[in-house]
Amino acid sequence: MTPRRPVTVAIDGPAGSGKSTVSKQVARQLGYAYVDTGAMYRAVALLGMRAGLAQEDRAGFAAQAAQARMEFRVTEAGQRFLVNGEDCTEAVRDPAVGARSSPVSAIPEVRQHLTAAQQRLAAGGGVVMEGRDIGTVVCPAAEVKVFVTATPPERARRRYLELQAKGKDVTEAEVLAEITERDRRDSSREVAPLRMAEDAHELVTDGLSIEEVVGRIIDLVREAEAR
Ligand code: DC
Repeated sequence: MTPRRPVTVAIDGPAGSGKSTVSKQVARQLGYAYVDTGAMYRAVALLGMRAGLAQEDRAGFAAQAAQARMEFRVTEAGQRFLVNGEDCTEAVRDPAVGARSSPVSAIPEVRQHLTAAQQRLAAGGGVVMEGRDIGTVVCPAAEVKVFVTATPPERARRRYLELQAKGKDVTEAEVLAEITERDRRDSSREVAPLRMAEDAHELVTDGLSIEEVVGRIIDLVREAEAR
């Protein structure tokens, strides 16, 4: 038998598709590194907020993206995300940071710096990289490309249940309206719009369990490793 060759796995898709949960599990089962590129955009937003940058200060955010050292480290407490040596795993999940990360991710210079950093992290393969533009821009030569999605009503339902569990007072219709608007913005923006790579496998996760989605991606990876 020929030895398996570690490959690059690019997982893209919209928010609420379940791609983060799935990507982490795929990486763990394969013994691959896992890179959450959304966390990197969030880190630039966090650093800029801490530095008191105004939202329109593009050069300021670009400088943060150029200077920040970002590292994904596997520890006993699971995977941690370090920014300039500080554990920011939780800090980048703050909703205010998430909200700021959206305009920050539309700054071309920020994307250039983070794309280069992501390409360095993916060099050599054996990595599952998750985001919006991995199969199209960051790793166009990835051996496995998956576009994980779910229909808007299904994503709204999942998000609604999540918010309800946190005691948030919203209706499913409000969540659906927000998701529809975000999809429109994300796929129509000028810089790196969310779109599926032509050679990606589309996985619509409506009605599928996490294990089923993970299993399908692992099958694709095993095929690619043996090629
Ligand atoms: O997936 P997320 O919510 O953690 O992403 C944070 C922000 O960064 C979100 O506005 C989308 C953006 N993003 C991006 O533009 N490109 C990526 N590869 C990953 C995230």
